[in-house]
Amino acid sequence: MPTLAPPGLLPRLRDARSITDSLFDAIHPDAWYDRPISERHRLVFYLGHLEAFDWNLIAVKTLGERSFHPAFDKLFEFGIDPPEGSEPEDRPADWPRLSEIRAYNQRVREKLDAWIGNVPAQVFHVAVEHRLMHAETIAYLLHGLDHARKSPQESGGFPTGRSAASRMIEIPAGIATLGQAGGEFGWDNEFTRHQVEAPAFEIASRKVTNAEYLEYVRAGAPAPYFWTQRQGQWRWRGMFGEIPLPPDWPVYVTQQEASDYARWKGLELPTETQFHRAAYGTPQGGERSYPWGEDSPSPARGNFDFARWEPAPVSAYPAGDSAFGVSQLAGNGWEWTSTVFGPFDGFEPFAFYPGYSRNFFDGNHYVLKGASPRTAACFLRRSFRNWFRSRYPYVYATFRLAGN
Ligand code: AVJ
Ligand code: FE
Repeated sequence: MPTLAPPGLLPRLRDARSITDSLFDAIHPDAWYDRPISERHRLVFYLGHLEAFDWNLIAVKTLGERSFHPAFDKLFEFGIDPPEGSEPEDRPADWPRLSEIRAYNQRVREKLDAWIGNVPAQVFHVAVEHRLMHAETIAYLLHGLDHARKSPQESGGFPTGRSAASRMIEIPAGIATLGQAGGEFGWDNEFTRHQVEAPAFEIASRKVTNAEYLEYVRAGAPAPYFWTQRQGQWRWRGMFGEIPLPPDWPVYVTQQEASDYARWKGLELPTETQFHRAAYGTPQGGERSYPWGEDSPSPARGNFDFARWEPAPVSAYPAGDSAFGVSQLAGNGWEWTSTVFGPFDGFEPFAFYPGYSRNFFDGNHYVLKGASPRTAACFLRRSFRNWFRSRYPYVYATFRLAGN
């Protein structure tokens, strides 16, 4: 008999729902059938997806309940991640009306709320974290939506930085513990926990900035997706408006752009193991839960948990530095690694969601670590692994240089 979710988890589901509900409130009524990213579904899909996912997982697979709307359960079951050149071709008229989806969603919530006491803790965490992951993926989608088609939200202020430039920090040889401990919640790809020996290497104290990447663009590299040029001036395509390119914000790039830049500099991207060493290792040899130590994530530690819509200077949040003095390893943008996304030894897919990770073990997806401004605090756990295609440009993904 699996452990049932303690009643304290119900407020977490309610909080997650209010986060995604308010994201949807930003979408103008005439924009629901837009497709801001050509490799993803139209926005309307996500309105149905969050509730259909919870329904399929909790009601159908876990509790064996009967469906009241099998067509929607299926239509909204899974998103898409097509390889380059096979983008979807559906039309707006192929999708149901908003009123029908909203009625489905309301019924799903009413039923699930009544049954939630019978749900195992693991299933509950999957539902909450799936929704919170989409709070970020829907934010990327809305980022690409025309500014006139969404309502501005509270921006979160403008933290300032410290002075001094990035420098290379020596990380001595040592052990990195990857993966989640048995008995704790983690997604399938976080298991099993194991130790890796890492030789000494060096890593940049800061993420690469827009100003640094601009030198590369001036040398002939294509501009990142988040940049645009007007009257010869580079600008930042923000969530709710354009601003002159902030030189001291981290640059958002693809894994391909990041690794090309690193090679241009005669350096590399860190591996997943090196990221762990820099973030969680200590000069004394022990390991930490977070870069800054054991305290729970809080706003002074970094730009995450929906604090802002945009990045902050790479020199902000000194209270988030790791034991080796490496900054912003949690927050202000996910960080690309040079590690191809794959299973750890002992990997077992969840029986109730076998494709969550396994569908992406194809050699084309790379591991990201860290967290972005739109990443919920629960994903700051050391074992969480994110992944995207090497040329996927829409995510809030930064990088830093490493050398061996
Ligand atoms: C873990 C963020 C790569 O968005 O493709 C959401 C999360 N999987 N629904 C994605 C996910 C299924 C996934 N990432
Ligand atoms: Fe999903």
